[in-house]
Amino acid sequence: MLKLLSLARFQLDCLLAYFKPGARWQLSTPLRLLRQAFYYFCNWSYCLFIYSAEALAFAGQKRLKAVDKALYRHYFYPNQFWIALSEGLKVERPETLYRLTYGETTWFGIRAALKAVQAKPEDLFYDLGCGTGRNVFYARIAGGMQAVGVDLLKSFVNYGQQTASACGVDGIEFKQQDIFKTPLQQASIVYVTANCYDAETMPKLVERLNDLPTGARVISTHRPIPSPRLEVTGSQRLPFSWGVDWMYYHIAR
Ligand SMILES: C[S@@+](CC[C@H](N)C(=O)[O-])C[C@H]1O[C@@H](n2cnc3c(N)ncnc32)[C@H](O)[C@@H]1O
Repeated sequence: MLKLLSLARFQLDCLLAYFKPGARWQLSTPLRLLRQAFYYFCNWSYCLFIYSAEALAFAGQKRLKAVDKALYRHYFYPNQFWIALSEGLKVERPETLYRLTYGETTWFGIRAALKAVQAKPEDLFYDLGCGTGRNVFYARIAGGMQAVGVDLLKSFVNYGQQTASACGVDGIEFKQQDIFKTPLQQASIVYVTANCYDAETMPKLVERLNDLPTGARVISTHRPIPSPRLEVTGSQRLPFSWGVDWMYYHIAR
């Protein structure tokens, strides 16, 4: 419930920004405002459905739910969407801020992805661009793997670490780092929301993934990773906070 209230507040704040002193109105602005309000309404309704289904489906996973509750105490206000916008502006230029646009994988999504790549407790899981770290906690708690979350933004890393200590989750690490500089020689499963990477940054990601040992699996959202070393082994459509999207599975050859 807190998550949905927090999302509604974020969306309302974004709409109210149109009415702030200094906001410049053009002829097309009312139409843009209406389109944005409609999109927010659809997205909020979709999130209501997905988060309610998640609450029911994962009701038995007490540890996971305790972590989620602890995480969302940090993310009520400002929430993860605001943090990505405001902290993102300190590390990206306004014209490339879209690279840090925030969105989240659902537990349905990460559960299906880990199953598809046959994740085992011996694996070392990396989430490149971990955000709140929900996937990292899922891999550790539900999958029993050692798990590492990497993000550029300080608050995500700090809150991830604080939540891990507060909930007594060991075998988990959060690093504030640019993923294009993250060594991956030890990783056996890498998760990446490939929506964030464009023509300029995708080659840098591909180069980084070249570090992976043979047999490592890569899970990417939205699009496959265009690397000659990575063979696509499957794909499926799964729910994310932004809607239903593709998840691609690869193996490093
Ligand atoms: C779409 S969110 C995904 C969050 C999480 N992985 C999930 O699936 O729920 C992408 C995250 O990647 C981070 N990010 C984007 N570019 C990055 C980079 N070059 N280095 C580290 N983190 C990055 C953003 O700050 C954001 O938290």
